[in-house]
Amino acid sequence: MDNIIQVRELTKFYGNNPAVDHISFDIKEGEIFGFLGPNGAGKTTTIRILAGLSQPSFGFALVNGHDVLKEPLKVKKTIGFVPETSNLYGELTSFKNLNYHAELYGVPKRERRTRSLNLLKEFNLIEHQEKPFQTLSRGFKRRLTIATALVHDPKILFLDEPTTGLDVMSARDLRKLIKNLKKKGVTIFLTTHYIPEAESLCDRIAVIVKGKIRVMDTPENIKAQVKDTEILEIALDQVTEEIKNQLSSVKGFEALVISDNQIRIHTKRIDQIILPVIEILKQGAQIKTINTVTPTLEDAFVKITGLDSDIMKINKPEKASV
Ligand SMILES: Nc1ncnc2c1ncn2[C@@H]1O[C@H](COP(=O)(O)OP(=O)(O)OP(=O)(O)O)[C@@H](O)[C@H]1O
Ligand SMILES: [Mg+2]
Repeated sequence: MDNIIQVRELTKFYGNNPAVDHISFDIKEGEIFGFLGPNGAGKTTTIRILAGLSQPSFGFALVNGHDVLKEPLKVKKTIGFVPETSNLYGELTSFKNLNYHAELYGVPKRERRTRSLNLLKEFNLIEHQEKPFQTLSRGFKRRLTIATALVHDPKILFLDEPTTGLDVMSARDLRKLIKNLKKKGVTIFLTTHYIPEAESLCDRIAVIVKGKIRVMDTPENIKAQVKDTEILEIALDQVTEEIKNQLSSVKGFEALVISDNQIRIHTKRIDQIILPVIEILKQGAQIKTINTVTPTLEDAFVKITGLDSDIMKINKPEKASV
C-alpha cells in the first residue's frame, strides 16, 4: 500500500516552545492511524498542520501528494477535517448544514441532495434531517459534524478527539461508524487520550508526549514490548506513605503504579519479589486481593513512556460515566 501521508521532521514553534518537535511518520492508504497523547502533547497542532490550517515552522508534510505548506488549498480539498469543537451552524438543519458544506466544497448542484441524504442515512441521522444542529444531542452533533466533513468524498479524514465528551453508548456507535469508513477505503488519522480506544480502533498508534513521538507501531507490537513482564496487582484498604517508601526500595521492579488503593508492580521476577512485597504491605495495610495479570496496552504505555497512565485520564468524561 502506498503512503498517502508523509511527514518528515515536522516542527511547530509557538514562541520559543516547540508544540511539535521533529516528528516523522508515514500513513498508508486505507489505514486508521492514531495519535495517542496527554493534554498539550501536540496532537491538535499536528492535525491542523496536516489539514492545511496551520503552517509548520520546520520540516514538511505531503498529504495525498500535496505539500501542506505550498498547496494548502489542494490539501483542504482532498481531506475532511473534524475539529474537537464542531464548526457547523447552530440554526441550520442537519440537511442544510450538509448541503451548505457540499456547496462550499464545490460538489455539483445535482449531486448535493443525494450525497447529503446518503450521509444522513449512513450516520443514522435521517429522522433528524429537519432539526437545527443546535437542538441535536451531543452524540448526534458529533456524528453530523463527521458526516459533513465527508460530503465532498475526501480520501482522508482527520478526527481530533472524536469521542471525547461523549457518553459510552454514543462513543461506541461512533467507533463503529469510523470502522465502517475504513471499510469504504477512507484513510483516517485520529487523536485520542483514551488508550483502549486507540487499541480497538487503530491499525497503528503513535504515542506523542511533549511534541515528540515516543513509540509508533501496531497495538499488538507495542504490547509485545512488555510480553516478558508480568504484573502483580494488589488491592489494599489503604496505601500509606510508609508503604510507598518501602516498596520503592525493593529490587526487581520495572514500574510501580499506584492509583487509589491499588498497586500494580511490573516485573520479570515475580517469584523473587512477591514475598518481600507482601511483608511490606502486611505491616501497614490490609491486603484485599492479589492477582497476576497480563500487560495491557496501558501497561506498555507506562513502561515505554515512563509516565503514569493517569496522565491520560484528563478530559475523559466517557470514563467518568462508566
Ligand atoms: N495558538 C497557540 N499559541 C500558543 N501555544 C499554543 C497554541 N496552540 C497550542 N499551543 C501549545 O502547544 C502545545 C501543544 O498543544 P496542542 O493543542 O497541539 O496539544 P494537544 O495534544 O492537542 O492537547 P489536548 O489533548 O489538550 O487537546 C501546548 O503546550 C499548547 O499550549
Ligand atoms: Mg487537542
